Amino acid sequence: MRHPVEWQFNDSKRGDLSTLTIATAKEVFELLREDLVAVEQELGRDAASSVSTITEIAEYLREGGGKRIRPSLLLLAAHQLDYTGQGAIRLGAVVEMVHTATLVHDDIIDGAETRRGRPSANTTWGNEKCVLAGDWLYMQAFKVALEERNLRVLDLLIGLTQQMVEGELLQIQKLGKAVSEAEYYDLIFRKTACLFSISMRLGAVLAQATESEEASLAAYGRAVGLAFQIVDDVLDLTATEEVLGKPVASDLREGKATLAVIHSYDHGTAADRKAIQRVLDDRSFEYVGRLQIQEILARNGSVEYAMSAAYRYAEQSRQALVPLADTDFKRALLWVPDFVVAREK
Ligand code: IPE
Ligand code: IPE
Ligand code: MG
Ligand code: MG
Repeated sequence: MRHPVEWQFNDSKRGDLSTLTIATAKEVFELLREDLVAVEQELGRDAASSVSTITEIAEYLREGGGKRIRPSLLLLAAHQLDYTGQGAIRLGAVVEMVHTATLVHDDIIDGAETRRGRPSANTTWGNEKCVLAGDWLYMQAFKVALEERNLRVLDLLIGLTQQMVEGELLQIQKLGKAVSEAEYYDLIFRKTACLFSISMRLGAVLAQATESEEASLAAYGRAVGLAFQIVDDVLDLTATEEVLGKPVASDLREGKATLAVIHSYDHGTAADRKAIQRVLDDRSFEYVGRLQIQEILARNGSVEYAMSAAYRYAEQSRQALVPLADTDFKRALLWVPDFVVAREK
Protein backbone atom coordinates (compact mmCIF):
# COMPACT_ATOMS: atom_id res chain seq x y z
CA MET A 1 0.00 0.00 0.00
CA ARG A 2 1.42 3.39 -0.97
CA HIS A 3 0.76 6.31 1.26
CA PRO A 4 0.83 9.58 -0.61
CA VAL A 5 2.79 12.28 1.10
CA GLU A 6 0.18 14.50 2.52
CA TRP A 7 1.25 18.06 3.06
CA GLN A 8 -0.58 19.52 5.95
CA PHE A 9 0.83 22.99 5.63
CA ASN A 10 -1.57 25.82 5.66
CA ASP A 11 -0.42 29.37 5.27
CA SER A 12 -0.90 30.40 8.86
CA LYS A 13 1.19 27.46 10.12
CA ARG A 14 4.01 27.52 7.62
CA GLY A 15 6.04 30.19 9.29
CA ASP A 16 9.30 30.86 7.46
CA LEU A 17 9.25 27.41 5.86
CA SER A 18 7.11 28.75 3.04
CA THR A 19 10.08 30.21 1.18
CA LEU A 20 12.41 27.27 1.70
CA THR A 21 12.20 24.41 -0.79
CA ILE A 22 12.49 20.88 0.49
CA ALA A 23 15.48 18.90 -0.79
CA THR A 24 15.03 15.88 -3.06
CA ALA A 25 16.26 12.41 -2.09
CA LYS A 26 19.10 12.80 -4.59
CA GLU A 27 20.23 16.10 -3.11
CA VAL A 28 20.19 14.66 0.42
CA PHE A 29 22.20 11.66 -0.71
CA GLU A 30 24.73 13.91 -2.46
CA LEU A 31 25.01 16.12 0.59
CA LEU A 32 25.81 13.17 2.85
CA ARG A 33 27.59 10.86 0.42
CA GLU A 34 31.19 11.37 1.57
CA ASP A 35 30.26 11.38 5.23
CA LEU A 36 28.24 8.18 4.92
CA VAL A 37 31.18 6.47 3.20
CA ALA A 38 33.32 7.53 6.16
CA VAL A 39 30.70 6.23 8.61
CA GLU A 40 30.77 2.85 6.81
CA GLN A 41 34.57 2.78 7.15
CA GLU A 42 34.31 3.58 10.84
CA LEU A 43 31.69 0.82 11.26
CA GLY A 44 34.03 -1.59 9.47
CA ARG A 45 36.86 -0.80 11.89
CA ASP A 46 34.51 -1.06 14.86
CA ALA A 47 33.22 -4.53 13.93
CA ALA A 48 36.52 -6.25 14.77
CA SER A 49 36.95 -8.30 17.95
CA SER A 50 39.67 -10.73 19.00
CA VAL A 51 36.94 -13.37 19.30
CA SER A 52 36.03 -14.51 15.81
CA THR A 53 32.34 -15.26 16.50
CA ILE A 54 31.81 -11.65 17.57
CA THR A 55 33.56 -10.34 14.45
CA GLU A 56 31.48 -12.67 12.25
CA ILE A 57 28.20 -11.55 13.78
CA ALA A 58 29.18 -7.86 13.81
CA GLU A 59 30.30 -8.07 10.16
CA TYR A 60 27.13 -9.89 9.15
CA LEU A 61 25.02 -7.16 10.76
CA ARG A 62 27.04 -4.39 9.15
CA GLU A 63 26.86 -5.96 5.68
CA GLY A 64 23.09 -6.31 6.02
CA GLY A 65 22.92 -2.59 5.33
CA GLY A 66 19.86 -0.76 6.51
CA LYS A 67 18.77 2.77 5.85
CA ARG A 68 21.39 4.46 8.08
CA ILE A 69 18.79 7.02 9.00
CA ARG A 70 20.14 7.72 12.51
CA PRO A 71 23.72 8.59 11.43
CA SER A 72 22.25 10.67 8.61
CA LEU A 73 20.25 12.69 11.11
CA LEU A 74 23.27 13.20 13.36
CA LEU A 75 25.38 14.39 10.42
CA LEU A 76 22.67 16.79 9.24
CA ALA A 77 22.27 18.21 12.75
CA ALA A 78 26.01 18.78 13.15
CA HIS A 79 26.37 20.38 9.70
CA GLN A 80 23.30 22.53 10.18
CA LEU A 81 25.26 24.16 13.00
CA ASP A 82 28.49 24.43 10.96
CA TYR A 83 30.38 21.58 12.62
CA THR A 84 33.23 20.32 10.45
CA GLY A 85 35.23 17.86 12.62
CA GLN A 86 35.51 14.06 12.55
CA GLY A 87 33.35 13.60 15.64
CA ALA A 88 30.14 13.43 13.60
CA ILE A 89 31.50 10.45 11.65
CA ARG A 90 32.45 8.70 14.86
CA LEU A 91 29.20 9.42 16.64
CA GLY A 92 27.26 8.54 13.48
CA ALA A 93 28.81 5.08 13.74
CA VAL A 94 28.02 5.05 17.46
CA VAL A 95 24.28 5.64 17.03
CA GLU A 96 24.16 3.04 14.27
CA MET A 97 25.89 0.50 16.55
CA VAL A 98 23.48 1.23 19.40
CA HIS A 99 20.61 0.77 16.91
CA THR A 100 22.09 -2.50 15.66
CA ALA A 101 22.55 -3.82 19.20
CA THR A 102 18.89 -3.11 19.95
CA LEU A 103 17.85 -4.89 16.75
CA VAL A 104 19.85 -7.99 17.68
CA HIS A 105 18.24 -8.13 21.10
CA ASP A 106 14.81 -7.21 19.69
CA ASP A 107 14.90 -10.06 17.18
CA ILE A 108 15.77 -12.50 19.95
CA ILE A 109 12.91 -11.20 22.11
CA ASP A 110 10.46 -11.21 19.17
CA GLY A 111 11.70 -14.57 17.84
CA ALA A 112 12.06 -12.89 14.42
CA GLU A 113 13.59 -14.99 11.67
CA THR A 114 14.35 -12.31 9.11
CA ARG A 115 15.94 -8.87 9.20
CA ARG A 116 17.03 -6.62 6.33
CA GLY A 117 15.92 -9.25 3.83
CA ARG A 118 18.13 -12.00 5.25
CA PRO A 119 17.97 -14.53 8.06
CA SER A 120 18.23 -12.63 11.34
CA ALA A 121 21.47 -13.09 13.31
CA ASN A 122 19.65 -15.17 15.95
CA THR A 123 18.46 -17.55 13.22
CA THR A 124 22.04 -18.05 12.04
CA TRP A 125 24.00 -18.05 15.33
CA GLY A 126 21.33 -18.78 17.93
CA ASN A 127 20.10 -16.67 20.84
CA GLU A 128 22.96 -17.27 23.26
CA LYS A 129 25.70 -15.97 21.02
CA CYS A 130 23.56 -13.10 19.79
CA VAL A 131 22.72 -11.82 23.29
CA LEU A 132 26.45 -11.56 23.88
CA ALA A 133 27.15 -10.05 20.46
CA GLY A 134 24.51 -7.39 21.24
CA ASP A 135 26.18 -6.62 24.58
CA TRP A 136 29.54 -6.37 22.86
CA LEU A 137 28.14 -3.97 20.27
CA TYR A 138 26.70 -1.70 22.97
CA MET A 139 30.07 -1.53 24.66
CA GLN A 140 31.88 -1.03 21.37
CA ALA A 141 29.59 1.93 20.74
CA PHE A 142 30.46 3.40 24.15
CA LYS A 143 34.16 2.79 23.59
CA VAL A 144 34.09 4.73 20.33
CA ALA A 145 31.96 7.46 21.94
CA LEU A 146 34.56 7.78 24.71
CA GLU A 147 37.08 8.94 22.09
CA GLU A 148 35.19 12.24 22.03
CA ARG A 149 36.30 12.85 25.63
CA ASN A 150 32.99 14.60 26.20
CA LEU A 151 30.96 13.67 29.29
CA ARG A 152 27.81 15.18 27.81
CA VAL A 153 28.02 12.66 24.96
CA LEU A 154 28.31 9.75 27.40
CA ASP A 155 25.53 11.12 29.57
CA LEU A 156 23.17 11.29 26.58
CA LEU A 157 24.08 7.79 25.39
CA ILE A 158 23.65 6.21 28.82
CA GLY A 159 20.24 7.83 29.35
CA LEU A 160 19.25 6.74 25.85
CA THR A 161 20.26 3.11 26.30
CA GLN A 162 18.36 2.90 29.56
CA GLN A 163 15.23 4.38 27.93
CA MET A 164 15.43 1.88 25.09
CA VAL A 165 15.86 -1.09 27.40
CA GLU A 166 13.02 0.20 29.60
CA GLY A 167 10.87 0.56 26.47
CA GLU A 168 11.45 -3.05 25.43
CA LEU A 169 10.76 -4.21 28.98
CA LEU A 170 7.54 -2.20 29.30
CA GLN A 171 6.48 -3.67 25.97
CA ILE A 172 6.92 -7.18 27.34
CA GLN A 173 4.84 -6.25 30.39
CA LYS A 174 2.03 -5.02 28.15
CA LEU A 175 1.98 -8.00 25.77
CA GLY A 176 -1.54 -9.27 25.12
CA LYS A 177 -3.12 -6.06 26.41
CA ALA A 178 -5.03 -3.53 24.33
CA VAL A 179 -2.97 -0.59 25.61
CA SER A 180 -4.18 3.02 25.59
CA GLU A 181 -2.86 5.54 23.07
CA ALA A 182 -0.95 7.26 25.87
CA GLU A 183 0.81 3.99 26.77
CA TYR A 184 1.53 3.37 23.09
CA TYR A 185 3.15 6.78 22.66
CA ASP A 186 5.23 6.35 25.81
CA LEU A 187 6.49 3.02 24.47
CA ILE A 188 7.38 4.21 21.00
CA PHE A 189 9.12 7.28 22.38
CA ARG A 190 11.38 5.09 24.49
CA LYS A 191 12.08 2.36 21.99
CA THR A 192 12.48 4.48 18.85
CA ALA A 193 11.96 8.24 19.04
CA CYS A 194 14.44 8.71 21.86
CA LEU A 195 17.31 7.48 19.65
CA PHE A 196 16.23 9.82 16.84
CA SER A 197 16.13 12.70 19.29
CA ILE A 198 19.49 11.85 20.85
CA SER A 199 21.08 11.51 17.40
CA MET A 200 20.04 15.10 16.72
CA ARG A 201 21.21 16.25 20.16
CA LEU A 202 24.62 14.61 19.68
CA GLY A 203 25.07 16.54 16.44
CA ALA A 204 24.16 19.71 18.33
CA VAL A 205 26.56 18.94 21.21
CA LEU A 206 29.45 18.45 18.77
CA ALA A 207 28.68 21.83 17.22
CA GLN A 208 28.52 23.47 20.67
CA ALA A 209 24.96 24.55 20.00
CA THR A 210 23.03 26.97 22.14
CA GLU A 211 20.40 25.46 24.41
CA SER A 212 17.61 26.59 22.14
CA GLU A 213 19.26 25.22 18.98
CA GLU A 214 19.74 21.87 20.71
CA ALA A 215 16.13 21.90 21.91
CA SER A 216 14.83 22.59 18.38
CA LEU A 217 16.86 19.75 16.90
CA ALA A 218 15.88 17.36 19.70
CA ALA A 219 12.19 18.20 19.25
CA TYR A 220 12.55 17.58 15.53
CA GLY A 221 14.17 14.17 16.20
CA ARG A 222 11.48 13.15 18.64
CA ALA A 223 8.69 13.99 16.20
CA VAL A 224 10.42 12.27 13.25
CA GLY A 225 11.04 9.22 15.45
CA LEU A 226 7.41 8.98 16.56
CA ALA A 227 6.28 9.23 12.93
CA PHE A 228 8.89 6.61 12.02
CA GLN A 229 7.64 4.02 14.53
CA ILE A 230 3.96 4.69 13.74
CA VAL A 231 4.77 3.97 10.08
CA ASP A 232 6.84 0.90 11.04
CA ASP A 233 3.80 -0.37 12.91
CA VAL A 234 1.48 0.37 9.96
CA LEU A 235 3.86 -1.40 7.58
CA ASP A 236 3.76 -4.45 9.86
CA LEU A 237 0.01 -4.53 9.12
CA THR A 238 0.02 -3.58 5.44
CA ALA A 239 3.35 -4.52 3.79
CA THR A 240 4.67 -7.81 2.41
CA GLU A 241 7.73 -9.55 3.83
CA GLU A 242 9.44 -9.42 0.39
CA VAL A 243 9.36 -5.62 0.40
CA LEU A 244 9.87 -5.06 4.12
CA GLY A 245 12.70 -7.57 4.58
CA LYS A 246 11.40 -8.58 8.01
CA PRO A 247 8.32 -10.47 9.23
CA VAL A 248 4.89 -8.87 8.69
CA ALA A 249 1.72 -9.16 10.78
CA SER A 250 4.13 -10.04 13.55
CA ASP A 251 3.12 -7.42 16.11
CA LEU A 252 -0.34 -8.94 16.68
CA ARG A 253 1.09 -12.44 16.69
CA GLU A 254 3.50 -11.25 19.40
CA GLY A 255 0.59 -9.78 21.37
CA LYS A 256 1.44 -6.14 20.55
CA ALA A 257 -1.37 -3.68 19.93
CA THR A 258 -0.15 -0.80 17.75
CA LEU A 259 -1.88 2.48 16.90
CA ALA A 260 -4.23 1.27 14.12
CA VAL A 261 -5.29 -1.74 16.20
CA ILE A 262 -5.79 0.44 19.29
CA HIS A 263 -8.00 2.73 17.19
CA SER A 264 -10.24 -0.16 16.07
CA TYR A 265 -10.32 -1.50 19.61
CA ASP A 266 -11.41 1.87 21.01
CA HIS A 267 -13.83 2.85 18.24
CA GLY A 268 -15.06 -0.43 16.73
CA THR A 269 -18.01 -2.62 17.68
CA ALA A 270 -18.06 -4.96 20.66
CA ALA A 271 -17.44 -7.80 18.18
CA ASP A 272 -14.38 -5.97 16.80
CA ARG A 273 -12.97 -5.60 20.30
CA LYS A 274 -13.58 -9.26 21.01
CA ALA A 275 -11.85 -10.35 17.79
CA ILE A 276 -8.81 -8.15 18.48
CA GLN A 277 -8.54 -9.32 22.07
CA ARG A 278 -8.74 -12.93 20.86
CA VAL A 279 -5.70 -12.50 18.59
CA LEU A 280 -3.80 -10.72 21.36
CA ASP A 281 -4.66 -13.55 23.79
CA ASP A 282 -3.91 -16.37 21.36
CA ARG A 283 -0.81 -14.71 19.87
CA SER A 284 -1.94 -16.30 16.61
CA PHE A 285 -4.40 -15.91 13.76
CA GLU A 286 -5.73 -19.44 14.26
CA TYR A 287 -9.22 -18.51 15.45
CA VAL A 288 -9.45 -14.94 14.21
CA GLY A 289 -7.73 -14.66 10.85
CA ARG A 290 -5.45 -11.95 9.54
CA LEU A 291 -8.04 -11.09 6.88
CA GLN A 292 -10.69 -10.57 9.52
CA ILE A 293 -8.41 -8.15 11.36
CA GLN A 294 -7.71 -6.32 8.11
CA GLU A 295 -11.46 -6.05 7.50
CA ILE A 296 -11.95 -4.59 10.98
CA LEU A 297 -9.16 -2.05 10.48
CA ALA A 298 -10.49 -1.09 7.03
CA ARG A 299 -14.08 -0.66 8.23
CA ASN A 300 -12.95 1.58 11.08
CA GLY A 301 -10.53 3.63 8.96
CA SER A 302 -7.82 2.72 11.44
CA VAL A 303 -4.81 2.59 9.10
CA GLU A 304 -5.76 6.06 7.82
CA TYR A 305 -6.08 7.17 11.43
CA ALA A 306 -2.58 5.93 12.26
CA MET A 307 -1.13 7.47 9.10
CA SER A 308 -2.73 10.80 9.87
CA ALA A 309 -1.01 10.71 13.27
CA ALA A 310 2.28 10.06 11.43
CA TYR A 311 1.61 13.02 9.10
CA ARG A 312 0.91 15.17 12.13
CA TYR A 313 4.28 14.32 13.69
CA ALA A 314 5.98 14.85 10.33
CA GLU A 315 4.51 18.33 10.25
CA GLN A 316 5.45 18.92 13.89
CA SER A 317 9.05 18.00 13.06
CA ARG A 318 9.19 20.52 10.22
CA GLN A 319 7.79 23.20 12.48
CA ALA A 320 10.52 22.50 15.04
CA LEU A 321 13.08 23.68 12.48
CA VAL A 322 11.52 27.11 12.00
CA PRO A 323 13.96 28.92 14.35
CA LEU A 324 17.04 27.53 12.60
CA ALA A 325 18.95 29.19 9.77
CA ASP A 326 17.97 28.34 6.20
CA THR A 327 20.70 26.09 4.80
CA ASP A 328 20.94 23.09 2.47
CA PHE A 329 21.12 20.94 5.59
CA LYS A 330 17.85 22.33 6.82
CA ARG A 331 16.33 21.61 3.41
CA ALA A 332 17.58 18.04 3.80
CA LEU A 333 16.14 17.81 7.32
CA LEU A 334 12.81 18.95 5.89
CA TRP A 335 12.93 16.04 3.45
CA VAL A 336 13.42 13.33 6.10
CA PRO A 337 9.88 13.32 7.59
CA ASP A 338 8.57 13.24 4.05
CA PHE A 339 10.66 10.14 3.38
CA VAL A 340 9.67 8.56 6.69
CA VAL A 341 5.93 8.74 6.07
CA ALA A 342 6.12 7.70 2.40
CA ARG A 343 8.58 4.83 2.81
CA GLU A 344 7.66 1.25 1.94
CA LYS A 345 10.35 -0.42 4.04
C1 IPE B 1 13.95 -0.75 12.59
O1 IPE B 1 14.64 0.42 12.27
C2 IPE B 1 13.59 -0.71 14.03
C3 IPE B 1 12.61 0.31 14.35
C4 IPE B 1 12.86 1.30 15.16
C5 IPE B 1 11.28 0.23 13.76
P1 IPE B 1 15.04 0.76 10.77
O2 IPE B 1 13.83 0.61 9.89
O3 IPE B 1 15.75 2.06 10.75
O4 IPE B 1 16.04 -0.41 10.41
P2 IPE B 1 17.21 -0.46 9.34
O5 IPE B 1 18.44 -0.02 10.06
O6 IPE B 1 16.88 0.43 8.19
O7 IPE B 1 17.27 -1.92 8.96
C1 IPE C 1 11.54 -1.49 17.27
O1 IPE C 1 10.32 -2.13 17.39
C2 IPE C 1 12.29 -1.83 18.49
C3 IPE C 1 13.65 -1.37 18.60
C4 IPE C 1 13.95 -0.18 19.01
C5 IPE C 1 14.70 -2.34 18.38
P1 IPE C 1 9.89 -3.32 16.46
O2 IPE C 1 9.91 -4.62 17.18
O3 IPE C 1 8.61 -2.92 15.80
O4 IPE C 1 11.04 -3.31 15.39
P2 IPE C 1 11.07 -4.27 14.16
O5 IPE C 1 9.73 -4.14 13.48
O6 IPE C 1 11.33 -5.63 14.69
O7 IPE C 1 12.18 -3.72 13.30
MG1 MG D 1 10.80 -6.57 16.42
MG1 MG E 1 8.01 -3.38 13.84
